[in-house]
Amino acid sequence: MSAKIETRVELPLSPEPSGKRKPDPCALVIFGASGDLTHRKLIPALYALEYRGLLPENFAVIGVARSENSTESWRKQMRAAVTEFGRDEMREDVWKRLAAGMHYVSTDFSSAGGETEVMKLLEQLDKERGTAGNRVYYLAVPPSAIRTVVDKLGERRRPEGWMRLIVEKPFGHDLASAKALNDDIVTHFAENEIFRIDHYLGKETVQNVLAFRFANGIFEPIWNRRYVDSVQITVAESIGIENRAGFYEQAGAIRDVVQNHMLQLLALTAMEPPADFEADAVRNEKIKVVRSIAPPDPAYIVRGQYGPGKIGGEKVPGYREEPGVAPDSNTETYVALKVFLDNWRWAGTPFYLRTGKHLSSRATTIVILFRPAPHPPFLEIAGEGLRPNVLVIHVQPDEGISIRIGAKVPGQGMTIQPVQLDFQYDRAFHVQLPEAYEKLILDAMLGDATLFTRIDEVEAQWSFVDSVVSQWEGAKPDFPNYAAGSSGPKSADAMMARDDRLWCQ
Ligand code: BG6
Repeated sequence: MSAKIETRVELPLSPEPSGKRKPDPCALVIFGASGDLTHRKLIPALYALEYRGLLPENFAVIGVARSENSTESWRKQMRAAVTEFGRDEMREDVWKRLAAGMHYVSTDFSSAGGETEVMKLLEQLDKERGTAGNRVYYLAVPPSAIRTVVDKLGERRRPEGWMRLIVEKPFGHDLASAKALNDDIVTHFAENEIFRIDHYLGKETVQNVLAFRFANGIFEPIWNRRYVDSVQITVAESIGIENRAGFYEQAGAIRDVVQNHMLQLLALTAMEPPADFEADAVRNEKIKVVRSIAPPDPAYIVRGQYGPGKIGGEKVPGYREEPGVAPDSNTETYVALKVFLDNWRWAGTPFYLRTGKHLSSRATTIVILFRPAPHPPFLEIAGEGLRPNVLVIHVQPDEGISIRIGAKVPGQGMTIQPVQLDFQYDRAFHVQLPEAYEKLILDAMLGDATLFTRIDEVEAQWSFVDSVVSQWEGAKPDFPNYAAGSSGPKSADAMMARDDRLWCQ
């Protein structure tokens, strides 16, 4: 008798699997409410949560920024933002519920008494909307503004209710500044009240790296240097710097993406199984990976900057011609690196990392290349098709996981060809993937820090980045060295060729 294995997953009819806890009543205060992040991500995420009934009934949102605005027109702008950037249709009943608790305060926290109006409004909302003195403060402001805001919030701490602080990346500019910033924050907030956000951890596909590795018994035994030849992690973007020159000139690709998103992907790929899924158990294992990264060999660090080129048939200017960028800027918009992890599981296995702006396409992938079969009996007749197995985690787009295997071509003889085994989210689950910020905002409200970065991890990330950046000091790069719309600098391909390898597309 044979058992049929079901491959399609039937989800419950309710849009969210049951068992989800609702957060306590609370007020969310967004600093930087007139900014891009608030429009594109935060308010659409709150709407998606309200749409699914995941926000507490006693809830309020206060947008705080320096720009003059009224609550009424802010609500209108946010409604337009939800329509443009949200993933659900605009439903009047849902919007009304959310908007009824939304307020805007135009103020400057750096001026004396700049916080008073916000504090008064919070107390009023406690009475009117029952937010119970619980606060989530979301700092979507530049690092330079964090200190002032945090000091004022700390001074105004009240005994009743809980307080949580969500801090956007970048957390500092290097190890020293990250430590200094943290020293400041911890004078007012305890570590378990601080939620350092890296939105990559909120992505379903990124969390699925853990599910894939630790909910399946078959991969763990081969997930090590004995079976894995090498790992490639790519965060390729086709967009440029999108009017963020002020920030990007200071950050570059290494601080903008490697320090956080890429090191998170690396940590999840390489970590040991945690004993449980508690915040500290998971984070302890991730930190061990980041700490084990050896400073890379200078010959295996490539940096690049895009010149003029074409994206989707449209001409785009080079980085140095972007508004707000210095005409002789040496900021890198591309980085490729080879690193080794000094630990038992991965000793000697190269991890190749690359990220860049204005590349030919957008793709974030984790590629595990396995060693070839030790002794295929049909080597001579199999020909070209006999290729090592490759497992690709497609973080975005086309979210899913594929495995390349060799299969016999039907017919006489023993010709082998690579074929794909595919898992695709949309085909398996028939649901739209939630936005990362939905998960992360809700987790912060629930006090669950599993998907947030603890300070020791941030410090380990910066130590690594500092070890790379220090190698660039004084050297004059030959920029621009790749055309917008291309696959990046030739030197990144040459780096792989030296190791007799190729980047997987
Ligand atoms: C942000 C970076 O953290 O991540 C941006 O500052 C980058 O430069 C973005 O474009 C990429 O995020 P996503 O979710 O589009 O891959």
